[in-house]
Amino acid sequence: MRILFTGGSGKAGKHAIAHLIEQGHRVTNADLVRLDMPGVDSLQVDLTDAGQVFNALHAYAGFDELEPGTGVPAYDAVVHFAAIPAILFRPDNETYRINTLSTYNVLDAATKLGIRKVIFASSETTYGICFADGEKKPDYIPIDEEHPTVPEDSYAMSKVVNEATARSFQARTGIDIYGLRINNVIEPHEYKTNFPAFMTDPALRRRNIFAYIDARDLGHMVDCCLKTDGLGYQVFNVANDDLSVGISTEEVISRFYQGVPKKRNMGTDETFYANNKAKQLVGFSPAHSWRDVLKP
Ligand SMILES: NC(=O)c1ccc[n+]([C@@H]2O[C@H](COP(=O)([O-])OP(=O)(O)OC[C@H]3O[C@@H](n4cnc5c(N)ncnc54)[C@H](O)[C@@H]3O)[C@@H](O)[C@H]2O)c1
Repeated sequence: MRILFTGGSGKAGKHAIAHLIEQGHRVTNADLVRLDMPGVDSLQVDLTDAGQVFNALHAYAGFDELEPGTGVPAYDAVVHFAAIPAILFRPDNETYRINTLSTYNVLDAATKLGIRKVIFASSETTYGICFADGEKKPDYIPIDEEHPTVPEDSYAMSKVVNEATARSFQARTGIDIYGLRINNVIEPHEYKTNFPAFMTDPALRRRNIFAYIDARDLGHMVDCCLKTDGLGYQVFNVANDDLSVGISTEEVISRFYQGVPKKRNMGTDETFYANNKAKQLVGFSPAHSWRDVLKP
């Protein structure tokens, strides 16, 4: 597929793009910052500017596309990852403005230009736990896509608003728009640098619901979504199968989730961030684990 990928110069995007290139897609990265990756076209775009977004979505990806003499080819899909990826990087109102405006612009341009598939990055933070003031427990475990999304911080609010915006664009156009409620993204090198501390102190993972997503498996999830048509508007939790801590699911419950209702029985190391919907609807099948690199 011919794909416009936003935010591909960032932590998650560069791994996702590498995976998509491996699968044979043609990818143009639209970002404020250039990505120098072989085989990837790069366009510097400020997505808060609607004119730039419309232009980028109807443009040659590279000089080679001038050769057939048949005009600008259409994009088959947009993958929208660009964002301010957390609170505290920018003032709260800027985080909210940039994230909601850029997502509106991308969805508006994609739908008006007739692109039939948009995948966008939402976040675990929509469940209100990650950036809560004080400790907040889930309403129930494991957290699935039915769990309420009433966060209190500007970043997560922007993601909840983006989900509502996406749902409305889908209702108007009938295209496929899938939102990925991505858990904490872990790059391969971070198993050695970050995970030993999580073994020593599992409480460090409380705000991430003790879950994680390998950046390569996130790329695989994007590809699964590109390959699965006809689901309309959907949101998917995206996480690896296991916990990001060295203690068992039962021990996490007894230390951190006392009194939290259990929706179903869970496996020994099973994630509290249910990924069953992604598995069932788009064939998500994560291949990586920190356990391949470190011993619990
Ligand atoms: N990293 C995580 O753990 C995590 C977890 C859940 C969701 N997410 C979401 O996944 C996506 C990617 O996150 P990341 O960690 O790779 O973030 P990142 O900050 O590393 O990358 C984001 C990219 O977006 C670009 N960008 C920001 N504003 C832009 C604009 N106005 N126009 C064009 N490009 C712009 C940045 O230049 C950057 O390259 C984000 O939407 C983030 O909210 C990330």
